[in-house]
Amino acid sequence: MEVIICKNKDEASTKACEIMVGIVKENPKAVLGLATGSTPVQLYAKMIEDHKENGTSYKDIQTYNLDEYFGLDQSHPQSYHYFMCHHLFNGLDINMDNVHVPKGKGNVEEEAQKYNEMLAQNPLDIQLLGIGSNGHIGFNEPGTAFDSVTHVVDLKQSTIEDNARLFFDGKIDDVPRQAVSMGIANIMQAKKVLLLAFGEGKAEAVKGMVEGPKTVDLPASALQDHPDCVLIIDEDAAKLLSK
Ligand code: PGA
Repeated sequence: MEVIICKNKDEASTKACEIMVGIVKENPKAVLGLATGSTPVQLYAKMIEDHKENGTSYKDIQTYNLDEYFGLDQSHPQSYHYFMCHHLFNGLDINMDNVHVPKGKGNVEEEAQKYNEMLAQNPLDIQLLGIGSNGHIGFNEPGTAFDSVTHVVDLKQSTIEDNARLFFDGKIDDVPRQAVSMGIANIMQAKKVLLLAFGEGKAEAVKGMVEGPKTVDLPASALQDHPDCVLIIDEDAAKLLSK
């Protein structure tokens, strides 16, 4: 793992943007694994800025998102599909036919199976990740097997609380209890992994991921085995690292 510690979120998002844009420029048909949450919002704004200023084109880029809430359809304002359109896709020249977000409604099991097949046929050039305060990646909560693929998950209480606070105006009852998530094996198959973490609330998870034992109790620790994993974190998220 390469760990890059930045002064703040802005500097970290600029660095992350350079990596994402670099991949798109090098391969205009690249396959990007994308993430939702508060963490990548600034990065996405910078990617849009770069697209507008420098003309980086996404018209042949394919994207696969990590996860989606169970029971919400794409047009629901809290769905991750909606989030991605709002924070990224609407600002780029991306072809929406090339955009993939797991389906949270309908025959979810069958859709998850199809998602795995699509991922197998379209290897991810990069997977962008945040990390949960409990060490989850995607919605792979503690206890998820490292060989898991796209599946339906039960969200942990800490995740429901984190997401209620950040995205549901604190209304815990409005947060779905389940989600569909790429598994840890899908994430590990990406050629490169770029994980961002900001703020003190992530410090313990970051320490476990970098320095702790590899354990299903901290899903992000699986990344210790990834051949090309870059962490870009701010000083607060780095504060418990010993080296
Ligand atoms: P956050 O979530 O970006 O909203 O902190 C990250 C995650 O849960 O993976």
